[in-house]
Amino acid sequence: TFVVTEACIKCKYTDCVSVCPVDCFHEGPNFLVINPEGCIDCGVCIPECPVSAIFEEDRVPEDQKQFIEINARLAQSWPTINEAKEPMDDAEAWADVKGKSQYLID
Ligand code: SF4
Ligand code: F3S
Repeated sequence: TFVVTEACIKCKYTDCVSVCPVDCFHEGPNFLVINPEGCIDCGVCIPECPVSAIFEEDRVPEDQKQFIEINARLAQSWPTINEAKEPMDDAEAWADVKGKSQYLID
């Protein structure tokens, strides 16, 4: 499966959702997750993300591994999103900020 990591937080560009063939992205207040039960590992979402937030599960960086569980868990309660929308206000300002996990709203 594929996993959305910290870089998406407070940006939520949503370019990823318009290319997913199986609509397995789910939307929260300031983050998106992938439902591991729906993802078919096609990989087309990876190059779409302007902040490179998406990784194949086996390639998630060491300091982002908690997001494997976070994606699986939040996909259960967040609604599906399958059409791109405007990024969050200030997305650009947050794009390169590290350590955003503390701001995740679930
Ligand atoms: Fe969707 Fe493919 Fe990305 Fe999985 S890898 S979330 S199926 S676009
Ligand atoms: Fe997030 Fe990147 Fe998609 S910022 S919403 S994973 S395009």
